[in-house]
Amino acid sequence: MQIFEKKNALINCLSILKQKNKQIGFVPTMGALHNGHLSLVEESNKNNDISVVTIFVNPTQFNKEEDLKKYPKTLENDLKLLKSVQCDIVFIPTVEEIYSTKVVSKTYSFDGIEHQMEGRFRDGHFDGVATIVQAFLEIVKPNRAYFGEKDYQQLQVVKKLAEKENLSVKVIGCPIFRENDGLAMSSRNTRLSENQRNASPLIYQTLKNASNLINTTKIANIYAFVKDEFDNNELLELEYFTIAEQESLQEVSTLQIGKKYRAFIAVNAGNVRLIDNIFLPINK
Ligand code: PAF
Repeated sequence: MQIFEKKNALINCLSILKQKNKQIGFVPTMGALHNGHLSLVEESNKNNDISVVTIFVNPTQFNKEEDLKKYPKTLENDLKLLKSVQCDIVFIPTVEEIYSTKVVSKTYSFDGIEHQMEGRFRDGHFDGVATIVQAFLEIVKPNRAYFGEKDYQQLQVVKKLAEKENLSVKVIGCPIFRENDGLAMSSRNTRLSENQRNASPLIYQTLKNASNLINTTKIANIYAFVKDEFDNNELLELEYFTIAEQESLQEVSTLQIGKKYRAFIAVNAGNVRLIDNIFLPINK
């Protein structure tokens, strides 16, 4: 496994591999790796000759200074894990290497996808994500890039980014990885207290219940059910629950035949923010 800190050295290495017609798969991460990230690397290994992983805590996608400061950093362990899944190349740049002296986002329009859900609660978040993902895609120029479906809105934003900026990469979404009790794997889970961690399976449990109700219950009543679940819980505070069409991410109040839907949720456990989502199987 080769490790790079400088983008020019990485670009030189990749250009030699590309001359040999090697297919490049790319997995961007912010480190604090867990099995969900490793599953993305494994998926990349299956369909490419070379897998490139970036570890970079991107300052421009955090709208709360505290969240950025507290983002877990476990570099030594991350490198061990990446080696264990036969990752080929790791890129660990500094903030200056990527942003030079101007640590700011570009401004994008993603046809409204960016204003739903996370966009409403995390001002500027998707501009920050798109800025860093575009920067990495332009450095690595991969054939394929892999993103987890836990951040489903991010996945849709990145698909739009590739389309709008004419980036020749196939953006691939991969299934959510969960702990045994259903909690979606996230680097943030390590910041939960024992009590918060014990309470947190309610998030996926509620999504599954909402999914079970989707064919028999009015959407407004599903919203009320979800609100109740969290009103009755002292440790978890519901930020939003949204049922949306899965491409446009537009919230819906009725379901239409032939369209696909997902339920999305964001919950605060103290100052740890957790998100999750589930596909809603409509039998119409
Ligand atoms: O999902 C993440 O960890 C980040 O948003 C990403 C895609 C690595 C960009 O910083």
